[in-house]
Amino acid sequence: MKRNTSCGALTKADAGKIVILNGWVHRKRDHGGISFINLRDRYGITQVVIDEDSPDEMKALAAELRNEFCIAVEGLVRTRPGSMINPEMPTGEIEVAAKRLSILNRCEVLPFQIDKESDAKEDLRLTYRYLDLRSEGMQQRIKLRNDVTFAVREWMTGEGFYEIETPTFIKSTPEGARDYLVPSRLYPGKFYALPQSPQLYKQILMVSGFDKYFQIARCYRDEDARGDRQPEFTQIDIEMSFVDRDDILSMTEGLFHHIFKKTMNLDIPKQFKRLSYDEALELYGSDKPDLRFDMPLQNFDEFVAASGFQAFKDAISKGESEREAAKAKGITIAGAGVKALVVPGQAAYSRKQIEELEAQAKIYKAKGLAWMKVMGTENEPVLEGGVSKFFADQTAAILEKLGAKCGDLILIVADSSRKTANTALGAVRLKLGKDMDLCDPSRFEFAWIVDFPLFEFNEDENRWEAAHHMFSWPQNQYHDTLESDPGSVKGDLYDLVLNGYELASGSIRIHDPELQKRIFNIVGFNPEEAEKKFGFLTQAFKYGAPPHGGIAPGLDRLVMLMAGKTSIKEVIAFPKNSFAVSPMDDCPSEVDQKQLDELHIAIVKTEE
Ligand code: AMO
Ligand code: AMP
Repeated sequence: MKRNTSCGALTKADAGKIVILNGWVHRKRDHGGISFINLRDRYGITQVVIDEDSPDEMKALAAELRNEFCIAVEGLVRTRPGSMINPEMPTGEIEVAAKRLSILNRCEVLPFQIDKESDAKEDLRLTYRYLDLRSEGMQQRIKLRNDVTFAVREWMTGEGFYEIETPTFIKSTPEGARDYLVPSRLYPGKFYALPQSPQLYKQILMVSGFDKYFQIARCYRDEDARGDRQPEFTQIDIEMSFVDRDDILSMTEGLFHHIFKKTMNLDIPKQFKRLSYDEALELYGSDKPDLRFDMPLQNFDEFVAASGFQAFKDAISKGESEREAAKAKGITIAGAGVKALVVPGQAAYSRKQIEELEAQAKIYKAKGLAWMKVMGTENEPVLEGGVSKFFADQTAAILEKLGAKCGDLILIVADSSRKTANTALGAVRLKLGKDMDLCDPSRFEFAWIVDFPLFEFNEDENRWEAAHHMFSWPQNQYHDTLESDPGSVKGDLYDLVLNGYELASGSIRIHDPELQKRIFNIVGFNPEEAEKKFGFLTQAFKYGAPPHGGIAPGLDRLVMLMAGKTSIKEVIAFPKNSFAVSPMDDCPSEVDQKQLDELHIAIVKTEE
């Protein structure tokens, strides 16, 4: 009994037809002598009826059916009686009166119900992922992922990009995270690495003249899993030659506009907001701000001197001495920061709620979270509670500067490190956004973050490292001061941010071998080491490398956000759990001694 239609297709117009359906028993209800079976496949659910006057043989077979049996039904499409019409279902106006029934396969007792969304524990869902994937939610998200991937290929191809595959067995090069390694059988002691991204290959493709490249690329990084991170994930990897930053940004805007229109019929802006890295940090305390609500951080530094609040004064003087000390070492840092956040209409926040906010600030290294409330009347507002007594004299100036009104809550963080003050208060802002229900998952607020610092100072190792990767172009105005003041150098780097997530990262690349050598040198690769690790790239660049740049949006994160989810596991068919394990096939697993021997590998168990 091979199907000739699907469980989502039949309508009133099909009444009178004899059809064959194949699918799974979603639910079964018995009413006296009649059985109703909701039969499900990828396309929908159709109600099948085993009437009271059906042959005994079929009734006996129907009595055997349990949820998730795979069955075939032949029957007559008929309109439902008026009272039984279900307007919620696309097939809600009809039912199929079974004439023949066949069990294609039985199903064991289910570990969890197949519902719209499963509420089973994650490891159980992943152990029985084939069942979990039957849920309506997972089916919709896998479809969305397919639609997004198709829209990407459609748009990129239309714009003249070639999709080119790059190898997944590559040379291990330091790219940021830890590599997954593949031992070589033929060359004892040698390893391939799985790519963290196709970065170097796509740059080399530019040298080869493929001036518009893209790839739906699998990437592998041995780092701790998080909600928005998996050990293996997918990038929409893109590279172009003879372009500047704005070309890449507008190409990406066009791509995203197409994706959202094609898959969700949404018209997102044709151009996204742009913020510099410094602005993003000063205004939202993050380089991936959630812009679905505003509530910016504001400068409060100017009110500290005239106040009597010692904690803030101490932060400022400590910041000043740290800045002097760094300057003596040739490092430019911002010094102290005192930042305020006005929470509109939340003066009624309880002490307990404020303590929760303070705990959040402390996770991000704040010493505390000072607060005061704007009380009194609209015409005569007064500051009350918390640290208000230290600032009472400056009430009018503070309210004016912050734009705070009667009924508002003011939160303040002071720190000797301006970055800490910003990030800690930024984390408080984000928690408030969630607590106050300002993060509507059906809104999509994109923003470009541009002008990132090229280098970051690694305090632990006492050296400079690349903030993104080592191949990004330092903006032209810094080329003379790369070595003397690395901390001030801005790169032609950009991130695309969506609803508080880093969705994509990219840069204009270095195509000049000499400049590339200087960057390697600053991040501590001596020439021999750089030659050993990246020689093939610098070598390729000697043969007329064109100026080029690119970007890589994370496909998993994109689909996750489009689906309104907070974990990328919800949009990956077979993800790993938080411990990088796949419970379904129990991977990673041990291998035979013979396999190890062939690979020249001996396992040495170290003590915990
Ligand atoms: P980057 O490392 O920033 O840049 O990665 C680009 C995008 O890939 C996604 N992403 C991840 N998604 C899921 N799990 C992970 N572990 C994970 N890591 C990254 C994010 C991120 O924004 N070669 C450069 C790009 C370039 O410069 O062109 C790169 O890989 O969405
Ligand atoms: P204290 O003077 O230590 O009793 O702190 C009074 C209030 O100021 C408490 O709510 C602290 O959380 C807060 N506070 C102390 N230091 C800081 C700081 N550096 N930034 C923000 N708030 C602080």
